[in-house]
Amino acid sequence: MVEDGEIYSVVGERGFERLVSAFYRQVPQDDLLGPLYGDEDLQGAEQRLRDFLIFRFGGPPSYIEQRGHPRLRMRHARFPIGQSTRDRWIELMDRALNESRFPVEVEAKLRAFFASTATFLINQPG
Ligand code: HEM
Repeated sequence: MVEDGEIYSVVGERGFERLVSAFYRQVPQDDLLGPLYGDEDLQGAEQRLRDFLIFRFGGPPSYIEQRGHPRLRMRHARFPIGQSTRDRWIELMDRALNESRFPVEVEAKLRAFFASTATFLINQPG
């Protein structure tokens, strides 16, 4: 049983880099997510998600040093997130996880974390 805090030591910075880059590679051409993320600072967005995950799963806290407390619901409030947008985010992340080939237990933990966090970020119907 792998604990959340041990995941960084299993997949490392490189693992999170792979995952997040596989996710963002799909964003620009996605009809729902592309317009939400815009295209001006996708590289910055990629870095923020990567650093957040590294911190959340037991790695160095550079996300906190640069961005402070995550407050994810507040930081997503300006983006309209309904069920279908949430499901699309998860679909892209599922593909990125498949591509990243992490150990099964790590993959299962991350999948569960993404699913519940994405649901928690829903801020409007539809
Ligand atoms: C539910 C669907 C989601 C949508 C539509 C969405 C959309 C966005 C957008 C448009 C941004 C701004 C990009 C930027 O940083 O410049 C963002 C930021 C971010 N998102 Fe999401 N997101 C979703 C789910 C998630 C989930 C599940 C997580 C956590 C695993 C997450 C973590 C983050 C983080 C850490 C940032 C950067 C916050 C900051 O420091 O400013 N998001 N998201």
